[in-house]
Formats: sequence, C-alpha cells, structure tokens
Amino acid sequence: MAARHFKQMDFEHWDRFYRANFFNSLGGFKSLNLLGTRSASGQENLGLFFSVIHIGAHPPLVGVLFRPHTVPRHTLENIYDTKELTLNAVSRGMVRQAHQCAAKYERGVSEFEATGLTPWYSKAHKAPYVKQSLLKAGCTFVEKQHIQANDTILLIAKIREVYLEEKAIAQDGFIHHEQLQTVSVNGLDAYYTPKLIERLVYPRPDAPVKKREDD
Ligand SMILES: Cc1cc2nc3c(=O)[nH]c(=O)nc-3n(C[C@H](O)[C@H](O)[C@H](O)COP(=O)(O)O)c2cc1C
Repeated sequence: MAARHFKQMDFEHWDRFYRANFFNSLGGFKSLNLLGTRSASGQENLGLFFSVIHIGAHPPLVGVLFRPHTVPRHTLENIYDTKELTLNAVSRGMVRQAHQCAAKYERGVSEFEATGLTPWYSKAHKAPYVKQSLLKAGCTFVEKQHIQANDTILLIAKIREVYLEEKAIAQDGFIHHEQLQTVSVNGLDAYYTPKLIERLVYPRPDAPVKKREDD
C-alpha cells in the first residue's frame, strides 16, 4: 500500500462531504447506541449515536458527544427537559432501523413508529427503551460540558439500571458484546460485527503479556 501524506491545506480544499467522511472514520470503529428519550409532553424519540464513551465505573458514568445545538437536537433537548435517557446497544438485526433513526424527523414524529422498533418501559425509568436491543441502560443527566473548540456538548449521565442477556456476562463482570452481536460503526454509514481476538491479563511493567486463564 502506498502511504499518502495530507496537510492542513488539503483538508481546507476538500469537498465538505469528503472531509466529513475522512475525519468521521479516521478514529476507527466505535460503539453504536440508540438513545431513547421522551419530551416533557411525553413524545417518544430515538436518536443514533456513535460517541458514547466510558467516563467512570464508580459511580457508573457515560459521556455522549452532541453536535452543535444550532439546529433542533431532539435527544439533547429532551434530556435537558426530563433528565432521563436510555442507551440501547444496536445489534446486528437492528442495523437498518437504527440507521434510519439518524434521519431528521419532525419533533412530532416518533422514530419508534417510523422504523418499527418497539418502545418498552421499565418500572423505574420514564425514558423509553428499545425492546429489540440486547443491552439496555437507563441513565439520568448529571452535567454538560461545552467544548469551545467546535461548539459541541459532552453530556455526562449516570447509569441507574441495566438489562442484558445473562449469558453474555463473564464471571468477572466483563460483557461479551460479540455474543450479543453488538454492532460497531466506522464513519456514519459502515456497520460491522466485531470478533474477539483474546482477553489479556492487565499489563504490569515487570510481567510478560499473558492470556487470561478464566475466560
Ligand atoms: C452512525 C451515526 C452515528 C451518529 N452519531 C452521532 C453522535 O455521536 N452525536 C451526534 O450529535 N449525532 C450523531 N449522529 C447524528 C444523529 O443521529 C442525528 O442528528 C439524529 O437526527 C439525532 O436525532 P434527534 O434530533 O432526534 O436527537 C450520528 C448519525 C449516524 C448515522
């Protein structure tokens, strides 16, 4: 493969869709979640997000990066208004419906109805889950951080409850997403099902890399 070298000048001259595709995929494979919310008046909403990241385990916190709030952002507005959201991992069988949830529907349109995904409610949580998702987490809003560099919002939420298939949980608490057929995404349109290579013992400077015995 011949390596190419790109510089700031190249980035500036690219067509904006080419630039968006290039940089959206540069960071590689990411997780994919549908965020379920409800407006103050009860209107259900689903949005597709590849920017859910782990912030901490104790307390369990996740972050989600939102594009600039210069146009209506239903998920973000609903979270500000009602403080609740659900994370629903996208599995292989849901890819096309999940992709369609990224379309700019009017506020009064539910992506559940538009795509055929099924809303499901737990006793403890007001935001809707996606019934078809094999890993669901109910979260509440904690704080938002404004990223000045490009006017995006990093929203932090606390995980209050989780639903997932028992068989996918290893003895040590690790979640085997490949058993749930959880999807990864690269860019805004390329979907993958990842395959486990191996699990390794956490590295120490004085020890060789070692495969975990218990997995
Ligand atoms: C694969 C994929 C991943 C996306 N990830 C994000 C994301 O992490 N943050 C974001 O603000 N928008 C993201 N989007 C765009 C939103 O899905 C889109 O703006 C959607 O309309 C948001 O719905 P809402 O207005 O109901 O919240 C993504 C789109 C696709 C196709």
